Amino acid sequence: MKWKKAVIAILLGGSSLAWAQWDESQVQALKMPQSGVVNDHLIVGGQPDEDDFKSFKSWGVVRVINLRVPGEKNFVAEEEAWAKSAGMEYLSLPVAGKDISLEQSLALKKLLGGQKKTLLHCSSSNRVGALLAINRFLFEPMSTKEALAYGEKHGLKSLEEMTKGVLNDPETQALKKKITAGKKRIKQYGMSLKGKLMDGMKKGPAQAVQSCQLAVKEMRETGSERVGRSSLKVRNPENSPEPALQAVLKEWQDRKVGADDFQLVEDGKSMILAKPIYMQGLCVTCHGAKVSPDIEAQLKKLYPQDLARGYKVGDFRGVFHTEI
Ligand code: HEC
Repeated sequence: MKWKKAVIAILLGGSSLAWAQWDESQVQALKMPQSGVVNDHLIVGGQPDEDDFKSFKSWGVVRVINLRVPGEKNFVAEEEAWAKSAGMEYLSLPVAGKDISLEQSLALKKLLGGQKKTLLHCSSSNRVGALLAINRFLFEPMSTKEALAYGEKHGLKSLEEMTKGVLNDPETQALKKKITAGKKRIKQYGMSLKGKLMDGMKKGPAQAVQSCQLAVKEMRETGSERVGRSSLKVRNPENSPEPALQAVLKEWQDRKVGADDFQLVEDGKSMILAKPIYMQGLCVTCHGAKVSPDIEAQLKKLYPQDLARGYKVGDFRGVFHTEI
């Protein structure tokens, strides 16, 4: 039988393109209790056993987030070694059942960003369901009841009352309001900029560079609340990121986050909501490696320190950000 195992290992390890995507029935067939699929890159459940890791590996899981507290009853200390020997990153975010809170759910939200295939688990998926419910409530247009139902779908049981308490807490409600308003502000800003860019493009791309500059300037001056764009390679030095935002930009550069993935960033005194920006076809006209001579000339004139070049469609370009 030994050779068979070796062949399977080669097949599994040979090509990352060969990973099979999981389907709901396969995930539910695991030994891991309450196992389920959240989306294309996240599966959740209770405590997995060593055999389950073979399935995780065959699906291309590269990261394990364990919410169990080391030393709690029936804690499986070997799991870290199972994950590591399967080539997975192992992250521990210890959350005791009595500690379900807004802070813990935000800490989890930070870890979950990105498209890395991840297994998130606790002992019975109760804590998983609780924290996912709080996150969904904060970032989606969802009532308390809907958020709890979402949590239940992913394992929330005995922690339901406690989770309800967090959802109904004035601090959570206030943060949800701020996030909702921030998301709206970013959306309006993005749409307005794009509209002005398209108008400018009608007059010719070189003219559009100037329209873009004027539009941003005008929005910067008239906007009562801080909203803007930033990048690791800026065209306008005024868009350079502050340290907290720079950390997010670096992180998002490495692990592609979903286009609609919002993240909260604390920069000491204030809270910032950020959303990734990806390159589209239109953007290459002014941010690609090669641009037309008239655009080149305009950029040289208006942005002598321009760094925002060399991007391709689909590249991570930067973030929208707004103080909330
Ligand atoms: C007509 C040329 C033009 C096109 C097309 C264009 N941009 Fe820009 N872009 C600019 C200019 C000019 C600036 C600098 C604006 C300012 O002064 O803040 C800029 C700035 C930015 C910034 C802010 C960070 C920085 O580099 O200063 C981001 C992010 C950005 N563009 C992304 C995009 C994306 C995404 C698209 C496609 C949807 C796009 N751009 C299309 C000209 C363009």
